[in-house]
Amino acid sequence: MTDSQATHPLMIALDFQTKEAVQAFLAQFPDPAHLTVKIGMELFDRYGPAIVKEIQARGCAIFLDLKLFDIPNTVERALTQLGELGVQYVTVHTLGGSAMLQAAQRGLVAGAKRAHVAVPHLLGVTELTSISPVGLRDEQNCRLTMTEQVVALAKLAQQSDCDGVITSALELPALVAAVGPEFEYVVPGIRLASDAAGDQQRVATPQTARQAGATAIVVGRPINQSKTPVSAYAQYQTAWNA
Ligand code: C5P
Repeated sequence: MTDSQATHPLMIALDFQTKEAVQAFLAQFPDPAHLTVKIGMELFDRYGPAIVKEIQARGCAIFLDLKLFDIPNTVERALTQLGELGVQYVTVHTLGGSAMLQAAQRGLVAGAKRAHVAVPHLLGVTELTSISPVGLRDEQNCRLTMTEQVVALAKLAQQSDCDGVITSALELPALVAAVGPEFEYVVPGIRLASDAAGDQQRVATPQTARQAGATAIVVGRPINQSKTPVSAYAQYQTAWNA
């Protein structure tokens, strides 16, 4: 990794509606410069690159999770813009195909070069964790099992210049076995045994995810909705390192 901004394997999802809520949340951390935070569509669609710049000014590394999915030319041009922002990770849908994934990487490289910043890591979303095996079969008309499909899409991502994939912990052992350790596996749906799962169906603890090959985990509500987010973060960090 050539990034100037070091990343942390425990990423906090900043799933807040307003920048004031983000500011109030981050202000509780004594040293936000050591945090890696995920900005999604909710904040980016409201504030655009300004919210990225604002959070970068606190020293945080940024995972910009916009999950792009369009024709290659459009994705390349969009990622040229995002590549200029100096973020550390961006996401695209692997279902966009090899031409789109390669175009995404070209766009990122061009944008980063233009802005003289490090190239963000390109992560591919395989099947969303909200898609059930029945939906895969009856709505996407896919004849593979969920694990076979996720492995196939991760291989496509690897062959098409992505740096890693977003994956549920459940598919991780099969994925790492098929795709190999020289790839990034970023895992959401993480909970300590004592936490509520919420709407996540496929949860795992930080230790389980790391042992299965996760290179990073994304934690949202257990930290961003906590009354004591700093100690919740510390608990997750301890569990990741256990
Ligand atoms: O609150 P929770 O820990 O469930 O949040 C998980 C975060 O990871 C959310 O921001 C969600 O959008 C994101 N995510 C996910 N599943 C994916 C991709 C991203 O839960 N497949």
